[in-house]
Amino acid sequence: MLELVLQFPDNLADALKECEQLAHTIESKLPKRPQGVVVAGMGGSFIGGLFAQDALYDTYSVPLIPLREAGLPAYVGKDYLVIAVSYSGNTEETIRVFLEALRRKIPLVAMASGGLLEEAALEAGVPFVKLPAGMPPRAAFPFMCAALAVLLDSVQGSSKLAGELREAVEHLRKVSDSALHESEALSRWMLEQYLAGKLLVIYSYRPYLSAGYRLKTQVNENAKLHAFFSEIPESNHNEIMGWEGQTGLFALLLRTKREPPYIHYRLEFLKELLSSKGVAVREVVARGETRVQELLYFFYVFDLASVLLSLMRGVDPTPVETISKLKKYLDERIDLKGEIKQVVSNL
Ligand code: F6R
Repeated sequence: MLELVLQFPDNLADALKECEQLAHTIESKLPKRPQGVVVAGMGGSFIGGLFAQDALYDTYSVPLIPLREAGLPAYVGKDYLVIAVSYSGNTEETIRVFLEALRRKIPLVAMASGGLLEEAALEAGVPFVKLPAGMPPRAAFPFMCAALAVLLDSVQGSSKLAGELREAVEHLRKVSDSALHESEALSRWMLEQYLAGKLLVIYSYRPYLSAGYRLKTQVNENAKLHAFFSEIPESNHNEIMGWEGQTGLFALLLRTKREPPYIHYRLEFLKELLSSKGVAVREVVARGETRVQELLYFFYVFDLASVLLSLMRGVDPTPVETISKLKKYLDERIDLKGEIKQVVSNL
């Protein structure tokens, strides 16, 4: 896992190169200017959609909806595009969205490294993006991110996100030393707090939600620890009251040089409040000239910090035994293969 995380900039650069070809082959199979795009996926296969939503927040001209559930809302119609992403290709929720889109004849693309989703897509004649196999889904973020960028750009007739990602890779390489230092310091601090029996709460805000959420999920899966994710400004209107009671939490705030005043003052207030309550608070300030650069900087630092935290705890970051157990339990009780067969044969 450490190796995969350290390779993040190189993997993203390679993936972007690979995807140049994808742009040519898939373009003709995609709808032109859909009314909205849904990117469906769970866990490590969800984060790419959330990242893209942040990256394109103020430029994408139609709704870009990251979806992490087993159903497809009624407003998603034939004028939308659904991109179903499951790294393993066997995730029930994502397959259910895929099947629902097939039933409703909504333009679809499937993305996986294999599994049932690949089989179903090929059988149903759905455009399919093959991801490189053999890694934990969450470590395949660079590959999913590059492919998503090409797809999302393509339907808008642009190359914006792919271009910004390319630039951001170069930036990441330039700042990788300071990212390493930052992640080391962050992981030591988190370890200290966890050893003192505290739990992490991460504060982030739009359009940096994906980075804060990424840290939460990476601490969960790599370090096998609880961590919670909270949003500014909504938490100012409810959760903030929790600090008046007892707390077993420590807090990390995502900061950027370009945060607007309405975010800046809320975070400054929160920082002061927490300090006055004796709650340990730390900030990570993004490095980068564009938002995509800042987002990738956060991702790199947080991925590394979560892996370092797990290694310092003597925990193997790679396996996710409880998730695997749950998937096996569900697999024994739900005949997903049979359901896919039924839907595909009724097309
Ligand atoms: C990440 C991870 C999970 C999976 C999730 C969905 O490494 O293990 O978050 O990403 O369970 O599975 P996939 O990605 O195969 O659809």
